[in-house]
Amino acid sequence: MISLLSDSTGFAKIYEVYEQNTPKILKVLKEHLNNQPKAVELFRQEAAVLEQLNHPGIPKGNGYFQYQTINGKLFHCLVMEKIDGVNLDQWLTQQGNHPISQKQAIAWLKQLGEILHLVHSQQWFHRDIKSSNVMLRSNGQLVLIDFGTAREATYSYLAKMGVGYQVTAVVSFGYTPLEQKNGHAVPQSDFFALGRTFVHLLTGTPPGNNFWNAHDKVLSNWRTYTSGISPLLLDFIDNLMAQEPGKRPLNTQVLLQRLEEIEQKLQQNKKIPLALVISAAMLALGGFGYWVYQHSHLDSAIPSDNSPTREELLTKNTAQDLIESWLSIQTAALGPNHETMNLEKILVGSALSQWRQIAEQDKVNNRYQKFFNQDLTVESVQTNNIDQNQAQVEATLKEATEFYENSQKKKSDNQTARVKYNLVRVDGVWRIQNMSVLQNNR
Ligand SMILES: Nc1ncnc2c1ncn2[C@@H]1O[C@H](COP(=O)(O)OP(=O)(O)O)[C@@H](O)[C@H]1O
Ligand SMILES: [Mg+2]
Repeated sequence: MISLLSDSTGFAKIYEVYEQNTPKILKVLKEHLNNQPKAVELFRQEAAVLEQLNHPGIPKGNGYFQYQTINGKLFHCLVMEKIDGVNLDQWLTQQGNHPISQKQAIAWLKQLGEILHLVHSQQWFHRDIKSSNVMLRSNGQLVLIDFGTAREATYSYLAKMGVGYQVTAVVSFGYTPLEQKNGHAVPQSDFFALGRTFVHLLTGTPPGNNFWNAHDKVLSNWRTYTSGISPLLLDFIDNLMAQEPGKRPLNTQVLLQRLEEIEQKLQQNKKIPLALVISAAMLALGGFGYWVYQHSHLDSAIPSDNSPTREELLTKNTAQDLIESWLSIQTAALGPNHETMNLEKILVGSALSQWRQIAEQDKVNNRYQKFFNQDLTVESVQTNNIDQNQAQVEATLKEATEFYENSQKKKSDNQTARVKYNLVRVDGVWRIQNMSVLQNNR
């Protein structure tokens, strides 16, 4: 009994076969690749990796063999354990592309971090991490598959990189970092691809999708398409996808440690408000009746795993994040599709009504704008002494803008502006209340 499971874009065809009564996976190198030594070598390497690595998160290898048909055709084959489950691409589709929760994301990042820890510690790196190369066993364990592009990170190989040695470039659009596209894959290239995999899982949209307008360097607006995810975790994923490999976590140990810290902080955030609300209520009123009243409202006062942390502190970094989110929401609202639904996630008061009106006018008049090379530097952050829920941020914004009317480009503009943003904290989260341009150099 043999049945074809997958004949996707990869190097191989995947069959289900039976060894006695146990289902196994037979992977056969596509015939046209037989006379490409590099492809054959990578294929044989996959067999070697699977046999070498022993972990529930990696399919067990059962050997490599060559098979010759009567009419002289040669096939390269490898047999491995069959994972009882679907890949995460299929899984997301089954879920109606509904994004995963924060809790799920952390648990999965830890699992994949541990699998990568083993892979990297054996001097291998995977080079093609993406949702379709991760499977979910029915017991909840994630399994990294498709080691067909894995490479041994030997010392000599790493040394050769320095003198411009080119290795086979493996590219999965949206997942592969720039250095790998240029043939310089390093272990940290796996972290970039891991980050992009979680962009897919946390937004329900694959990173290679046109929706992102993705170039290799940055995916700037993905965060605004997530919901209920703490900035701590979003920052972590952005750090995995840092443009320069050296800015990503140094190794899997550092990666796992950071995840651990994030998990702890998120748990603290959850506990503190509960303790505070109860003790404050007890102290202030001392009455049981009031406590019961408070308690009945407690559930909504405690952030669940999925809600943003309360009482966000305003630092230069958080102000930067906030205004950058605004810029991407603005880009969507003033862009060709006039997507105004996210304006209310970041603006309140006069800023909200003003920008809604601008976006609506543009739509009516068949106008839109495109923004390029936006660069934001937060210069100062000042919280109001009397009202802790109000703050002022001054920033320098560089950007190029193209203006379109009836699909024709009408003009373009380059500016560096000093902008003042008045912020207000609503339900513990900072929003922009109004903004004004202090100075403009065109
Ligand atoms: N060990 C396995 N157990 C179950 N299904 C598998 C296994 N290996 C691969 N598959 C299925 O086949 C698909 C393609 O396999 P993969 O190894 O990624 O090859 P490629 O992407 O090179 O075609 C996977 O996404 C998965 O659905
Ligand atoms: Mg694959």
